[in-house]
Amino acid sequence: MLEELRQLLGRRCDFEPAEITDERGLFSARPLCVVYPETTDELSQILALANQRQVPIVPLGGNTGLCAGAVPHPEGKCVVLSLSKLQQVRHCDEINYSIAVEAGLTVAEVAAEAEARGMYFPLRFGADATAQIGGSIATNAGGSGVLRYGNTRELVLGLEVVLADGRVLSGLEGLRKDNTGYDLKQLFIGSEGTLGVCSAVTLKLFPPLPHRQVALAEVASLTQAVELFKAARDEVGELLLAFEWMSAPATAISVGKGLSPNQAGMDNGSDLVLLELASALPDEPALRMEKLLTQAIDSGLVSDAKIAASQSDTEKMWSLRELIPQGEKRQGGSLKHDVSVAISALAEFVESASQAAKAVDPDVKLCLYGHIGDGNIHFNLLPSSSSSAQATALSEAVYGAVSQYGGSFSAEHGIGMLHTATLSRYKDPVAVNLMRQLKSLLDPNNILNPGKVIA
Ligand code: MLT
Ligand code: ZN
Repeated sequence: MLEELRQLLGRRCDFEPAEITDERGLFSARPLCVVYPETTDELSQILALANQRQVPIVPLGGNTGLCAGAVPHPEGKCVVLSLSKLQQVRHCDEINYSIAVEAGLTVAEVAAEAEARGMYFPLRFGADATAQIGGSIATNAGGSGVLRYGNTRELVLGLEVVLADGRVLSGLEGLRKDNTGYDLKQLFIGSEGTLGVCSAVTLKLFPPLPHRQVALAEVASLTQAVELFKAARDEVGELLLAFEWMSAPATAISVGKGLSPNQAGMDNGSDLVLLELASALPDEPALRMEKLLTQAIDSGLVSDAKIAASQSDTEKMWSLRELIPQGEKRQGGSLKHDVSVAISALAEFVESASQAAKAVDPDVKLCLYGHIGDGNIHFNLLPSSSSSAQATALSEAVYGAVSQYGGSFSAEHGIGMLHTATLSRYKDPVAVNLMRQLKSLLDPNNILNPGKVIA
């Protein structure tokens, strides 16, 4: 297999690769080699070879995922398939508002390509300068634009996917309506490279919304943050682009980078909501934000608010939110729980999960924040010890509460290698069984990212 790869790709095969470690530093392994195809045809030949020889393939994008979906399984000898050289913009249609790009462009590069053509691509999250679009499709990435534009899944018009046996499933036409049977692309979005490898995608673009207004609002509790969300929805409707909640301990951790809530214009030590409004009309976001926050202060929902007055204010406010995960890393890493419940159940869920976690570890620190306009809380914990038994008990306590409130134990980060056991435990057994059947239909030799999603 390695010799055949050398013949196919020449110098674009690295036979002495370094260890690959996931973004959170939880798993490390050295693959047999890393290959760098430049075309869909090369990708197809690699998968056909791997399938004949039954060699596991691990697709790798920007390696920013949080569940170790793109690192080699510690037990398996495998070939890592880097998508980074698939870099073409295949087609852009300014009337159809769509762009067809290859998997290796970063999310930020796709957004820049759209912007250069006078359009807007709305996927955004902390790692979007490094994350590749192919990986974002494989993980159905979420982030802070979901409230208005949906998850990655909702931004995909069509895919080009290389199947385990090397066949290519092509669907890049950019159709906005196609009701001809099963919508097969949906199977591959969020499948984390276990059912096929996405080589290119046609994405939806939108008219730009050049006028933006960001603000921070101080709230006394999560209940008030949720009430503010309802008020914002009622008051500004579709103008609401982002609604992010940060508990005081989370913003305190973000401070390490030299930015405090104080520098972003608020008191240290309060829970904050970051709101962003966007519109095509000049002044509209600023006027509506002012009205919304004045009403919220008058009604006692918000105790203080600061409306960004410059681009620098806007950047400070966003970085306060986006640097929380880096702050957690500096504290030695958090025990992450990327969970969701119905927005109406958020406050009760957080109360119940916090009590359950404190019953396990009375000194645990809660570092809670998230995309609460999507019902998605990052219920991250800094336990009082590094005991793995304690970590397991804490996660069980949190997932128990998630299950009690009918929520999801992985709202946007996926499953990877990290949550396979949690999936078997908490997902509907009928769904898990169907997932297994699909996996064996599409990848009968189990060469595609084995050990990920379903063990
Ligand atoms: C975020 O929204 O910042 C990340 O998804 C949260 C995390 O890294 O736990
Ligand atoms: Zn998130």
